[in-house]
Amino acid sequence: MKAVILVGGQGTRLRPLTINTPKAMVPVLNRPFLEHVIDNLSRHKAREITLAISHLAQPIKDYFGDGSRFGVKLNYALEKAPLGTAGAVKNSERHLDEIFLALNGDIFTDLDITAMMDLHRRRNAKITIALTPVDNPTIYGLIETNAQGRVMRFLEKPSWSQVTTNMINAGTYLLEPDVMAYIPFQTKFSFEHELFPLLLERDVPIYAYPSSAYWLDIGTPEKYFRLNKDLLSGRGGQYGLSSGQEVVVGEKSHIHSTAQITGPVVIDNNCTIGERVRLTGPVVIGHGSVILDDSVITESIIWQAVNIGNRVKIKDSIITNDCHLGDGSIVEEAVLGDHVTVASGYKLKAGSKIWPGTTVG
Ligand code: GTP
Repeated sequence: MKAVILVGGQGTRLRPLTINTPKAMVPVLNRPFLEHVIDNLSRHKAREITLAISHLAQPIKDYFGDGSRFGVKLNYALEKAPLGTAGAVKNSERHLDEIFLALNGDIFTDLDITAMMDLHRRRNAKITIALTPVDNPTIYGLIETNAQGRVMRFLEKPSWSQVTTNMINAGTYLLEPDVMAYIPFQTKFSFEHELFPLLLERDVPIYAYPSSAYWLDIGTPEKYFRLNKDLLSGRGGQYGLSSGQEVVVGEKSHIHSTAQITGPVVIDNNCTIGERVRLTGPVVIGHGSVILDDSVITESIIWQAVNIGNRVKIKDSIITNDCHLGDGSIVEEAVLGDHVTVASGYKLKAGSKIWPGTTVG
């Protein structure tokens, strides 16, 4: 099976995480998000994957290269300007000459793609759309089907009075290549607003594959946070840690014997954890980060090369690459972009989102 992953979005809602880092590259358990997605596709025997990119392409190409390190062949389809979800797939057409999977690159799912493919074939569908249940369908695209699973109606971001189902578009589609004929070339065109309504009008068979497999999009810092916590707590299907209590420590990381670590905690390589430091999971510490004596970190995600001084308190926060937190500083319910410095003794206002390169305090 071939696949195309849409990784060309701006990721505006995930700022400041995505100001210097493409959404696809934000780390989840210390690996780029996209690596988890590619791993899952590879498990389902996708051997050739095209990345549809427009924004911040270089870091993605530098990391993934030709894909051989990840057991797949990778192609890149670059857009000069973003073409929208369906337009981006059209732009990848030269690599998609047989049935293929198209997926939003900001979704983490344990979906059984093989079972979805079986259903697609049995129904003779032109498109099969994965559906997932959510608590609040009003912020998503809702999909109504008949008793055979054929899609009858699409409703984007419905009001509560319009809600007839909690099954939403999970951003994962199987497509027959002849569907491409309906997508204009080099034109901004979306699956949700343009292609699907057009295909319904033309009576093209679209089927739905409902699934209650783990599913979460990392569209906002809150959801990115939740994904990390879910994976650390053993709630991400077959991904992440299994027991929910584990402590995983990478190579050449030094943890002082007086540090107290309560899992789930993942510490990457080359980290230093000082005397009497307390880590209470879910916590992730990225490559080369240093935490000095008596600091307390609770339920937080720390990216790479972060320097945390003595007696620092961090709770419910995301601290991205190369931040520096001075001695005695307090950071709670905050999101810090790259290269942020928090002055010694300063208490950051809860709920702060700090832009890269800023010094606070
Ligand atoms: P926001 O700016 O926060 O809405 O995020 P986003 O830009 O990622 O948009 P959205 O969440 O709607 O996109 C869903 C998926 O489609 C993401 O994986 C995006 O990377 C991808 N995507 C959205 N628009 C484009 C586009 O024009 N081109 C490509 N290649 N991918 C896109």
